[in-house]
Amino acid sequence: MHDLNPCGAAARRGRIDALGDLTVFDLSPFARGQGFGRSGYVERGFTSGADFYRHLVADAGFDRGEHILDLGCGFGRWSIFLAEVNRTVTGIDPMGGRLAIARNLAAHLDLDNTTFAAGSGNELPFADDDFDAAWCYSTLHFLDRRRALAELRRVLVPGGRLFVALYFAVGRMVALLCDSYTSGGWDDPDVALAITALEAGTTADGPPNMATAAGLDATMAGHGFAVERRFDIDSGGKAASLTEEERAIFADLPALVARFRADSAFRDRLLADYPRLCRGLDYNLSFLARAI
Ligand SMILES: C[S@@+](CC[C@H](N)C(=O)[O-])C[C@H]1O[C@@H](n2cnc3c(N)ncnc32)[C@H](O)[C@@H]1O
Repeated sequence: MHDLNPCGAAARRGRIDALGDLTVFDLSPFARGQGFGRSGYVERGFTSGADFYRHLVADAGFDRGEHILDLGCGFGRWSIFLAEVNRTVTGIDPMGGRLAIARNLAAHLDLDNTTFAAGSGNELPFADDDFDAAWCYSTLHFLDRRRALAELRRVLVPGGRLFVALYFAVGRMVALLCDSYTSGGWDDPDVALAITALEAGTTADGPPNMATAAGLDATMAGHGFAVERRFDIDSGGKAASLTEEERAIFADLPALVARFRADSAFRDRLLADYPRLCRGLDYNLSFLARAI
């Protein structure tokens, strides 16, 4: 640990900076003609800008020259900023197209301390105690939480750190249901995803899963992690305060789904007002935890 050659870090930073303004950076040359899929996630690329990535990596304490796992790395947007200030970064994701972009980007940046491999967080292809810390951005809700957290504990050194961000909470799942229904109707796969999560509630560990802010510490403790710090990242914008009647709509999530399916007047009202309503609910949870 802490053996990062600062010259190496500066050189790597210079290579990323040479990409220019990341808020308008076009990833398509790195996809080498492959489509980006339908979510818009890859097209959005690095629109938050380099400072956003660097600041969060440092603020979370992931700038210490360590051996890092980036679980659900996607096209590697966090991996390259983690690689800038760490000894090694290993990105894991099941989607080959995204891994190809990550590899091409890392090769272009000469980041020879990165490795990208196909795999699932539910069954990690690594030895016990392999990593100092793990980064898991906008991915934990897609996993089998029980298996993934057991795997993360196994591959982390004793006391290893886990950073989890944009972990979906109830508001985000309701927004996903409404957004995807609006764009794709009942056939949209994200409608099914959101419904599965909402019907299962916040204690279910199967994919997809979610938590509430109030239940997070107990949920993570139940899986062998102590939450040490919370972060407020993209929590859904300025909070809205909901009336008691509005809160009651979200008190019974299976009932909410049943009404969304069967009652078109209720559905239309929710679709018209969900951006405000979701701002009154837990939205994205982000936190740093330690394996216990
Ligand atoms: C919203 S993207 C976030 C990607 C990346 N962490 C980022 O912030 O750019 C979620 C990622 O989770 C990956 N994913 C889905 N199921 C997974 C699984 N079982 N194991 C690991 N990653 C998974 C997806 O392929 C996708 O790339």
